[in-house]
Amino acid sequence: MSGLKNSEYLIEVDRLRPGVFIRLQGVPWYRHPFLTSSFRIKNFEQIETLRALNVEKVICVPNESLAPPLDVPRKSTAKIRTVLPGENPLPDDYYDEKKKRIDILREKKASVARAIKKYSLSLAQIENLMRSISRGNDHFIEDAIQFSSDLSSYFLEDSESIMHVLNLQDDSSDSLYYHSLNVTVLSLILGRSVGLTDTEMHNLAMGAMFHDIGKSRIEKKILHKKGRLTKAEQKIIQKHPFYGVQILSKNEKFPKEAMNIVYQHHERCDGRGYPKKLQQDMISKLSKIFCIANFYDGLINKHDHTKSYSPYQALSYMFSKCSGVLDKVLLSSFIHCMGIYPPGTIVILNNDQIGMVVSVNLAKPLAPSLVLYDPQIPKKEALILDLGRETEYEIIASIPPAKLSKEVYEYLSPRSRITYFVDPDSVSEK
Ligand SMILES: [Fe+2]
Repeated sequence: MSGLKNSEYLIEVDRLRPGVFIRLQGVPWYRHPFLTSSFRIKNFEQIETLRALNVEKVICVPNESLAPPLDVPRKSTAKIRTVLPGENPLPDDYYDEKKKRIDILREKKASVARAIKKYSLSLAQIENLMRSISRGNDHFIEDAIQFSSDLSSYFLEDSESIMHVLNLQDDSSDSLYYHSLNVTVLSLILGRSVGLTDTEMHNLAMGAMFHDIGKSRIEKKILHKKGRLTKAEQKIIQKHPFYGVQILSKNEKFPKEAMNIVYQHHERCDGRGYPKKLQQDMISKLSKIFCIANFYDGLINKHDHTKSYSPYQALSYMFSKCSGVLDKVLLSSFIHCMGIYPPGTIVILNNDQIGMVVSVNLAKPLAPSLVLYDPQIPKKEALILDLGRETEYEIIASIPPAKLSKEVYEYLSPRSRITYFVDPDSVSEK
């Protein structure tokens, strides 16, 4: 991100005034007290800070400026002290604001770590439960009830929960377990946003977890077949909701509302789904919630990852093409709680920086947090920008990960599998 672009040009610091958007060049990020190396000047103090750093010229970004630079240079009245090599260029208190921001950044990273820990634990539990059922163990139900009740209450605890997209190192588990946990999480996020009761949330989690259990009765060669299925194979696959009910109904403690999800999860509001071709009002509310989560996960995590939609493309597709297929009201709630730019989306900001949405505060879905690409900052310490706080930054576009250069791609590491989880213990952001 060096060199001049479009209408940008170099100007002397003496010509700066509040409202001018600038980019710093040649000043390492750790040497200056500003949060990022490109920003809009807010006050004269910031101009004095640039002088104290011995910065003579900066890049002016006219498109993002609210005021043009001064025609006549304005000399500083402040005494400027020359910085000696190796010396901290500014007094410590200049860095206080940056330190505070770095503390917030640390808390955000801790929040991701908490979510990853809980996610890995939940994934292992789902794996155990499913294995237990396929071994014909009827006692799975007690564990499943306990697990889904813990999980659903975890989603109900705090209205300021943060939804993260997770970068998991261990990708050894079967994709079925990831899919089951992901759709359970997404269903609960939507369920919570439409005000489901504790019992409904619990039933939603139970149904979501086991929705595809009937696939265990279908031959693997049909299930994992690459390319088009024949009509006969399609018919076999379409039996899995029925098989799921058969497996789960052996246990009378499995809730009826959760069973509806297992049986109805391929029904569509326009009556073109299966197995019963049910229409809008005949499909249960929990099934409709689940269908939206399942549809979304099916688009963003395809078997062939190269064909997966980006989260942004998936939501746009669902919004424009699926309003008759999925419940309209629930779909708009889902889009609202995922935000316009859901976690995992690659975006360009108004200062030209590229970032990836890494988390969304469920109470403020339109102001996500991004991890920023900045070659001056090591990847491990990458900056996380909270758009809810840093209001001078705006997203101007989203771009497909395939369009990133190799260097940016490796820095941001967009996930081949997009996995969501929440951290209800996050520090409340007012
Ligand atoms: Fe299914």
